[in-house]
Amino acid sequence: MEHKTYYITTPIYYPSDKLHIGHSYTTVAADAAARYKRLKGYDVMFLTGTDEHGQKIQRKAEAKGISPKQYVDEIVAGIKELWKLMKITNDRFIRTTDIQHEAVVQKIFKKLYDQGDIYKSQYEGWYCTPCEAFWTKTQLVEGKCPDCSREVELTKEESYFFRLSKYQDRLIKHIEENPDFIQPASRQNEMLNNFLRPGLEDIAVSRTTFKWGIPVSFDDRHVVYVWIDALSNYITALGYMTGDDADYKKYWPADVHLVGKEIVRFHTIIWPAMLMALGEPLPKQVFGHGWLILEGGKMSKSKGNVVDPVVLIQKYGLDAIRYFLLREVPFGSDGVFSNEALINRINSDLANDLGNLVSRTVAMIDKYFGGIIPSQRVQGEYDDDLKRVVMETPQKVEELLDKLQFNSALTEMWKAVSRTNKYIDETMPWVLAKDEANHPRLAEVMYNLAESIRIISILIQPFMPETPEKIWAQLGITDNAALSWDSARTWGGYPAGSSVSKGETLFPRIDIKKELEELEKLTGKGKDVQENHSTNAIKTPEKNKNHNESTQEAEMITIDDFARVDLRVVKVIEAEKVEGSDKLLKLKVEMGDETRQVVSGISKHYNPQDLIGKSVVLVANLKPVKLRGIESQGMILAAGDDTGLALVMPDKLVGSGMKVR
Ligand code: MSP
Repeated sequence: MEHKTYYITTPIYYPSDKLHIGHSYTTVAADAAARYKRLKGYDVMFLTGTDEHGQKIQRKAEAKGISPKQYVDEIVAGIKELWKLMKITNDRFIRTTDIQHEAVVQKIFKKLYDQGDIYKSQYEGWYCTPCEAFWTKTQLVEGKCPDCSREVELTKEESYFFRLSKYQDRLIKHIEENPDFIQPASRQNEMLNNFLRPGLEDIAVSRTTFKWGIPVSFDDRHVVYVWIDALSNYITALGYMTGDDADYKKYWPADVHLVGKEIVRFHTIIWPAMLMALGEPLPKQVFGHGWLILEGGKMSKSKGNVVDPVVLIQKYGLDAIRYFLLREVPFGSDGVFSNEALINRINSDLANDLGNLVSRTVAMIDKYFGGIIPSQRVQGEYDDDLKRVVMETPQKVEELLDKLQFNSALTEMWKAVSRTNKYIDETMPWVLAKDEANHPRLAEVMYNLAESIRIISILIQPFMPETPEKIWAQLGITDNAALSWDSARTWGGYPAGSSVSKGETLFPRIDIKKELEELEKLTGKGKDVQENHSTNAIKTPEKNKNHNESTQEAEMITIDDFARVDLRVVKVIEAEKVEGSDKLLKLKVEMGDETRQVVSGISKHYNPQDLIGKSVVLVANLKPVKLRGIESQGMILAAGDDTGLALVMPDKLVGSGMKVR
């Protein structure tokens, strides 16, 4: 029988000196999906790797006085080590410095040039080196990179261009006709409305100002733009355009490219357009997950509070970290990572719920039946409900994992864990044990507990590479038939007569107060961290910080969520331009008895004097921020964008300070 294939990829990582736990997010998620599909019998190709070219790397290597290749080699070795430590089961690891990759990228570039999809012209624009992205002047925000707010450099050079504009209509059509292509759905609307429908421009796809890249084969003053180089990895890794393209034929198109939300744009516009130009099929799906963000603000390496995955794994164990990453936040949404949240989860879900369930069950079987689970099975009270809840779980988990809803899948599993724990409370084995006459019933209760744990232990495998085997050792399950993925769907697979043996505690409880203090010492963090109990956290990716993206889960809010936003009508009493900025106005507004100072990016659209006396709407409970050194105590609402903007104003006279609801 031929296996169904499943091709899943992570982005290829920039070689950064130290990977933080946020970096492992995409990879752990992809690993869980890959493990799940393998358990289901798929022939899986799971690809990850490193994205090693570009000006940024060249500069870092120069600063260290070594060659770029030496620089990346060392870092890539560290990345591979980390994936090993995290038990990532990638089938292949591609480096963009691999000779085969470089040769195929050159072939791709040449083919597109020969057929007229790439042409030579002049490029003038602004380049953000950290993001490796070009911007037009109008795309800049206050002269800075719109993604990361850092300085950009004016670049003028001869360049090759890719005819991206030619593919605009086909891309729109493809996205509209294939609602699963971009997930979550909110990201699909963002791509259509913010990028595709306003119109695509051709993009510069070569550079002459630095050398660390793949040379254009027919014009070696140019190197290939890093994103063209990087995106191609998904097919070069499969032997595309080589004599040995069996894997390409077998696995392409990819089932899913998992990517962080900030790079959805590259994967759903440039990449599919390249594939269209090459005449190749498009990936079935691009899934843009959210970011893990630090609780309580920015973090920087110098403060010592970057989360080091190695330290975390040493402290809490791999399975706890992997569980937390995928349990805490819906995949697709942004979420906060703090050590406090991590420890709380370990204590409640892992130590209390799962760990205790296993240790109590094993201890009771040991105590009441000398370690051998009896075979008696009679029907007693509470059994039906336990079985119903546990038996519903595999189906639900599969449906959710098929949609990459990792956190909901884990929630479903933990419902089964809780139901099983409740079963112990309901059946009160310690009471049954007092009377010999109740022993058949006690035996059945023990069996049902062991069986529920068996099913749960099978389902957690994609997430936890270590715990299932420990559970099986404790429950004495050696028969593979009782451990297969599909066996979780049938009640009664636990081989009666197996002998259990007590083992180490699966997840030791952590004294949270002590632990947080220790972590604070470890990271050398001061008071600010103690206040929000966040000693370690995942870095906010520096890119796209100001992209205000909604996510699938965040699409709908409740009326209570809305009520948290304090919207007020306010009257403008003073207005002036902010020096040195062509965008910002400084306003004084009256809100009832209070006066507020607000900085607003409306200068291109309103003369300050025209605003005096006008009533506008203010978000009054927004945390104050400083813009150009001036404190802004709220935000004025306006509709539109850079090309046209209108302030929101009440259509009748209302007193200042009035609530907007
Ligand atoms: N090299 C490009 C990708 C090219 S793919 C053809 C890149 N690399 S990266 O190293 O910056 O990011 C790799 C992945 O890590 C991205 O999916 C990114 O979103 C993810 N993350 C990095 N920090 C993260 C968090 N703090 N939280 C969640 N994911 C994060 O982009």
